[in-house]
Amino acid sequence: MTLSVTLRRPDDWHVHLRDGAMLAAVAPLTAARFARAIVMPNLVPPVTDTAAAKAYRARILAALPPGSSFTPLMTAYLTDTTDPVDLEAGWRAGVLTAAKLYPAHATTNSAHGVTDLALLAPVFATMARIGMPLLLHGEVTRQGVDIFDREAVFIDDVLDGLVAANPALKIVLEHITTRRAVEYVRSAPATVAATITPHHLVINRSDIFRGGVRPHLYCLPIAKREEDRLALRAAACSGDPKFFLGTDSAPHSVEAKECACGAAGVFNAETAIEVYAQVFDEEGALDHLEAFASLNGPRFYGLPPNEERITLVRAHRDPPAPLAAGTTRVVGFPDAPLAWRIA
Ligand code: NCD
Ligand code: ZN
Repeated sequence: MTLSVTLRRPDDWHVHLRDGAMLAAVAPLTAARFARAIVMPNLVPPVTDTAAAKAYRARILAALPPGSSFTPLMTAYLTDTTDPVDLEAGWRAGVLTAAKLYPAHATTNSAHGVTDLALLAPVFATMARIGMPLLLHGEVTRQGVDIFDREAVFIDDVLDGLVAANPALKIVLEHITTRRAVEYVRSAPATVAATITPHHLVINRSDIFRGGVRPHLYCLPIAKREEDRLALRAAACSGDPKFFLGTDSAPHSVEAKECACGAAGVFNAETAIEVYAQVFDEEGALDHLEAFASLNGPRFYGLPPNEERITLVRAHRDPPAPLAAGTTRVVGFPDAPLAWRIA
C-alpha cells in the first residue's frame, strides 16, 4: 500500500476566484496548494479585455497572504465584440494567458457569452497565430436540448467544426463530463485537450439526488451517468497528456446554493488535490498523478513545469468545514471524509 506520493507542485487550469470578500476568502486556499491557476473571467461584469484582466490580477495578488508565490494566469471572456488586437496586446504584455468562450447563457454570469461563433473568426485566427489557447465551456444552450445531452450536442454541433476550421488553434474542452467527450478528445488532433474536475471523478448524477436534492453537488456541466464517471477516471488516470487538472472550484454563498433556484458550482479549492490523490489511489494510478496534476497542463500551455514539490500522505482528513466569506459562508466539496491529505 502506497503511503505517500511526492510530485511537482500542481497547477489548477480552471478556477473561479470571484472578487471582493469572496476572493479574499478563497484565493489563499488555491494559492496554498497550486503554483499557478487559470482564473475564470466570469465576474459581474465579465473580464473582457486586457485592462480589466490586469486590474483583476492586481486584486487577486492583493488578496494573497504575504510572501505567496502564486501566479494567477488571466483569461479574457470572449464576446461578440472582442477585439483581436487587444487580445494579442494582452498576450504579448504577459497579462492574458488564454481566452474563454461561454456560449451565451450557458452558466453563472454568462449572459454576455458569444451568440454566433462566426463573429469570432478573426479572434480565433489571431489566437492560433500567437499560440493562445481557447478555453471552452462545452455546452449548447439551445432551448429543447436536454441538460444531460448539452455537452455531447456541443461536440457534434460546435466543437467538431471549430477544430476543423482552426487546425492550429489550441483548444481546451473544459470540465468534461461524458464518455463521449473523453473519446472525442482522445481521437482529436494534438491541439485539443481537456480538463477534468475532482467532483466529476467522484459523483454521478444519482448522487445529486441521493436522499433528496443536494444543491452543493449541482454544477455545470452537470454530473452525468456512472459510465461517464468511469470513463473520466480512466482518462485522468491514464497519463495521456491530453487530460489535465482543472478544479472548476466555483464558490457561491450558502444562500445562493440553498434556495428555490440554486446556483451552479461546486467549491473544492480546499480539497481538490486530496480528492484527485484519492481517485488515482483507488484506480491504482498514483504513478500518473504528477502527469495529470503537474506536467500535462504546462506542456499544453507551453509553460515550464513547477520545480517545487509537494507531498501527499495517506491519512484521514475530515470533510471541509464551511468557509467564512464576508458575511456569508461557502460549503465545500466533498461532504465525506478523505483518505489523503497534504503533508
Ligand atoms: C461556474 C460558476 O459558478 O462561475 N459554475 C459551475 O457550475 N461550474 C461557471 C462555469 O464554469 O460554468
Ligand atoms: Zn468553471
